[in-house]
Amino acid sequence: MLSDLLDHNIQWATEKRRQDPDYFSRLSALQRPDYLWIGCSDSRVPANVITGLEPGEVFVHRNVANLVHRGDINLLSVLEYAVESLEIKHIIVCGHYGCGGVRAAMDGHRHGLIDHWLQPIRDTADRRAGELEKVGDPETRLNRLCEMSIAAQVESLSRTPIIRSAWSRGKDLAIHGWVYGLSDGLLRDLECGCDGLAGPRAEVEGKWVGQGHA
Ligand code: CO
Repeated sequence: MLSDLLDHNIQWATEKRRQDPDYFSRLSALQRPDYLWIGCSDSRVPANVITGLEPGEVFVHRNVANLVHRGDINLLSVLEYAVESLEIKHIIVCGHYGCGGVRAAMDGHRHGLIDHWLQPIRDTADRRAGELEKVGDPETRLNRLCEMSIAAQVESLSRTPIIRSAWSRGKDLAIHGWVYGLSDGLLRDLECGCDGLAGPRAEVEGKWVGQGHA
């Protein structure tokens, strides 16, 4: 029931104040997160919950299939504010196995507007078709594509003028690609990140962190 949410909120706020009377006055005065999270909208992958971070500790942008469209004014506004004003140190692009967006991108059906949104996933699949074809099991192939797409979004992010400008001014800023397993609740570092103008250290080529996970 919707009223349960409001009741829970009162309990939560009361408990927070009981533990720390200044909790809300301190948070309302300032947010100083170290992390920007770019994740999937999927309700099963809530940034704060799975990383154990409190309010104020992570700045969050989520969209279907955690994509970085470089003309996306929403994402770019979040990114610029995070880098220039909040001076965050780490950007985490986090996808997940069993992503419905990745599945919809590849199922061959027409879904509407979302097909345009999901185009970068098909681009990644086409670009790396040779590797994907070697994966026999269709579900496993989709999970491999989830990883490839995350790496591609890290790379795309690293090429944005916002990020390149920050690096050229010597800002301490790293981008990471992580994948989350719905079936075990664990995050894995795909080691496809980058922290300077040289770009990503490596695409997730041979490495396959989550083989067998869904
Ligand atoms: Co998803």
